Amino acid sequence: MNQQHRPFGIPAYEAAPVIASSEREAAFAIRMKVFVEEQTVPPEEELDAYDVAALHFIARLAGEEDASGIVGTARLIDKGHGVGKIGRVAVLIEHRGRGVGALLMRCVEKAASEHGFTELILEAQLHALPFYEKLGYIAEGDVFLDCAIEHRLMRKLL
Ligand SMILES: CC(C)(COP(=O)(O)OP(=O)(O)OC[C@H]1O[C@@H](n2cnc3c(N)ncnc32)[C@H](O)[C@@H]1OP(=O)(O)O)[C@@H](O)C(=O)NCCC(=O)NCCS
Repeated sequence: MNQQHRPFGIPAYEAAPVIASSEREAAFAIRMKVFVEEQTVPPEEELDAYDVAALHFIARLAGEEDASGIVGTARLIDKGHGVGKIGRVAVLIEHRGRGVGALLMRCVEKAASEHGFTELILEAQLHALPFYEKLGYIAEGDVFLDCAIEHRLMRKLL
């Protein structure tokens, strides 16, 4: 389980692959809250067929075993030829800016390495580009629209 160093006054968080179905449900609920309610993505486009085979990840308040302590999520899809695609990276608004997103990404990358992926790609919303750049992802290609939100493809070799 990835752990986090914390500044004074900020709760500790940890990230891990989803194990229990209650964790998976909590992860999906966070996606609905962040992408559908906050970013107005159509609800029918949020959960998709990739969710069935994807590896899902959660970030939670450290030591909080109950699903109510889950504050962030991400997923990893196998695109073949050693390429994994990270997506649906979301942290509840009240827990942002505390390193939770970075903690989640490190957890996904560790699992991706363990599964034999050699390259990770993602489609970054433009506002999140600096977040991914700090984690070593490099943008390529033109800006494109997905659900009316501007994105760019980003890539990182593991
Ligand atoms: C993008 C998101 C996951 C980042 O999560 P977070 O927990 O706030 O990020 P962290 O606190 O771990 O930030 C890690 C670093 O990235 C930086 N960062 C995070 N979001 C940033 C942003 N929007 N612009 C610039 N820098 C950003 C932080 O300042 C921090 O930098 P530091 O290491 O120098 O301190 C979160 O803002 C979110 O859920 N947004 C809504 C959903 C979304 O848009 N997801 C991305 C879809 S592509």
